Amino acid sequence: MNFNVAVIPGDGIGPEIVTEAQKVLNAVGEKFGHSFQYTEVDMGGISIDKYGVPLTEDALETAKKSDAVLLGAVGGVVGKDSWYELPPNLRPEAGLLAIRKGLNLFANLRPAYLYKELKGACPLKEEVADAGFDMIIVRELTGGLYFGERKTEEVDGVLTATDTLTYNENEIRRIAKKAFDIAMKRRKNVISVDKSNVLDSSRLWDKIVNEVAKDYPEVTLTHMLVDNCAMQLVKNPAQFDVVVTENMFGDILSDEASMITGSIGMLSSASLREDKFGLYEPSHGAAPDIAGQNKANPIATVLSAAMMLRYSFDLDEEADAVEKAVEKVLEDNIRTIDIMSDGMTLVGCKEMGNEIIKRI
Ligand code: NAI
Ligand code: MG
Repeated sequence: MNFNVAVIPGDGIGPEIVTEAQKVLNAVGEKFGHSFQYTEVDMGGISIDKYGVPLTEDALETAKKSDAVLLGAVGGVVGKDSWYELPPNLRPEAGLLAIRKGLNLFANLRPAYLYKELKGACPLKEEVADAGFDMIIVRELTGGLYFGERKTEEVDGVLTATDTLTYNENEIRRIAKKAFDIAMKRRKNVISVDKSNVLDSSRLWDKIVNEVAKDYPEVTLTHMLVDNCAMQLVKNPAQFDVVVTENMFGDILSDEASMITGSIGMLSSASLREDKFGLYEPSHGAAPDIAGQNKANPIATVLSAAMMLRYSFDLDEEADAVEKAVEKVLEDNIRTIDIMSDGMTLVGCKEMGNEIIKRI
């Protein structure tokens, strides 16, 4: 099959890690008989330098016409980069919000997986780390508390600020469907996280999720309160397969889940909508401190490309091959600087890409 991928290298280590992910996609193409066509798109600081804005209309149009988007990262040294003086809506990171919104990506997937070879980096108790975990958090990305009506006003002479958490049933239904579809490709277990003992929006959330569940009789559904979920993530993360939740809850819980894996250079992500289209990017940023030095870990981006194969192109076997190749590299004690430990072989970004390709 033939796939058209929009590639956004971005700033900092972005170009280096994206190159390695493309090399891996090409290797998959050769092995399984697919071809990937790439169209490069500017976004972030590089786009500001060329065009004065972090994302041009043309760039967004190119992304829209593709089958999927592969993104590196954008931004410079926090507080010190050449874009520092710009207003927030014209800074590199504004490109991220503009493209997610412009492409209507309402489902943000953040996997958290503990590789047994990297257990030493897990901050949890030894027996919890030994049990391992493999979960994916499906966060609603375009509604909820971050998109509700807000205002600050004086009420009876007292300064008062209001945020609102609003969901309609359609917004809940589409994210729930996404979560169940993903569970069907995994261990068929969904935990829906909310605060239904307090919030009306969570009651509606429960009701609609239960309705959607009827279409997926093979999937086990459990409801969990968000405060309990925060505790369970550090107590017994092995119990989670797919977690589906509201925007802000998902923001907090996905950061918590990523930290218990202990390794920022390994964490992939995907942002999806109702059709097969998606945007795939590592969870980390542009790492300007190591940019251009062949030191970055490309694995988060490579694993994001694997998610692209799985969720946008329905190439499960190919995605498995990439994920297995990454595991094999770790088993063979090959490490980039961010995951380096005693007795391991240190390699650079390019070499890590080559080692992964060898094992596909
Ligand atoms: P960061 O994730 O870029 O870096 C944090 C630390 O982790 C740094 O020490 C970096 O060297 C290291 N690191 C990150 N990714 C790595 C990798 N693949 N391999 C090895 N080490 C890695 O976060 P930071 O420093 O807060 O932000 C830097 C810039 O990136 C800022 O301009 C920020 O706004 C932007 N950013 C962009 C994101 C995106 O494009 N999605 C997400 C987060 C931050
Ligand atoms: Mg966050």
